[in-house]
Amino acid sequence: MNDQFIFCTTVIGNESLLKEEIRLYFPDLTLSFSGKGLVTFKNKGEKIDERILADKSPVFALRSGIHILKTDEDLLLDDLAKVTDLIAREKFGVHYFNIKGEPFSLVGEEKLASTYSQLNNRARPYEYIVNVIEISPGKFWIGLSFVTNATNPYPNGNTEIVLPPNAPSRAYLKIAEADKIFNLNLNFNDLVIEYGSAPGGATTYLLDKGLKVVGVDPALMDESCANNPNFKHLQIPVQDLSQEKLPDAPVQLVTVDLNLNPKQSLKEVLRLTKKHAHDIRGILFTIKIVNEFHLQKMGEYKKLFIDFGAREVIEMQLSSHKKEYLIYAKF
Ligand SMILES: C[S@@+](CC[C@H](N)C(=O)[O-])C[C@H]1O[C@@H](n2cnc3c(N)ncnc32)[C@H](O)[C@@H]1O
Repeated sequence: MNDQFIFCTTVIGNESLLKEEIRLYFPDLTLSFSGKGLVTFKNKGEKIDERILADKSPVFALRSGIHILKTDEDLLLDDLAKVTDLIAREKFGVHYFNIKGEPFSLVGEEKLASTYSQLNNRARPYEYIVNVIEISPGKFWIGLSFVTNATNPYPNGNTEIVLPPNAPSRAYLKIAEADKIFNLNLNFNDLVIEYGSAPGGATTYLLDKGLKVVGVDPALMDESCANNPNFKHLQIPVQDLSQEKLPDAPVQLVTVDLNLNPKQSLKEVLRLTKKHAHDIRGILFTIKIVNEFHLQKMGEYKKLFIDFGAREVIEMQLSSHKKEYLIYAKF
């Protein structure tokens, strides 16, 4: 029996979180290779297929799947054809990415794009993705994954959103990516409460979309947000805030990006969000892994949202994340 290898790509710098998550939740997998942004594991248990893996995909993997083969520029198209033959009867897409986010070797990309018209399209749920991962110039690993609605649909999670020059912080990217991935259906005039709003990256994204934002943060907001008539600043630490200070009008979205340990931020935000439990459509909650111990609590954190009444809870690492992941609770 051939050994089976599972590949996981991750945000560069989050490899240790991914390995710890695998150690905790996938006891049959043992570390095989670890490089920047890519970790592989040997499966010592029963063989699994892409669909099973997709159902319980590691949160700290931007993409995970079954490693199929290694190849190089000359053999790439032939080897890729062997892999696509395996799933010829199924719907599939092809994602091609450089593991370090470096420019692709152009020759390879042109050949690929002319052979596979669907190259790097947004993945759709319930299709396969053949991942062509450029490891170093001219060297590729090919892996097969399956897409669910909890899979980041972009090649290696790269939404290609560029930080605009007016954004006061890189946190703009987190909400912009979440909107592109989940289509948050943000409507003009929707009201959002943002916990941990300073200096205002995410606020800028929401205000630019015509939304109204109440930002909770003891720190100062960038002037562009502070002076916007659609923005109100509650300059109070979340633990000192009472429901009475929050708007009485219906709130459609709550976003959370607090530099606090998850236990405390979850407790305070869910306490306050009870005020709008009947009208919110979603909570976007960034869980900061301030200590790897919190990885043991991921299930508990997810359950808090189910108990709060969410109809679906998705956990996902975004490419703009550092030591953190997103919980998106839909109501
Ligand atoms: C990652 S930053 C938020 C970035 C912001 N969302 C943006 O888009 O620019 C985390 C924020 O949490 C805030 N914070 C830390 N402790 C807090 C607390 N107890 N209550 C409210 N905000 C807090 C910090 O002041 C900081 O501005």
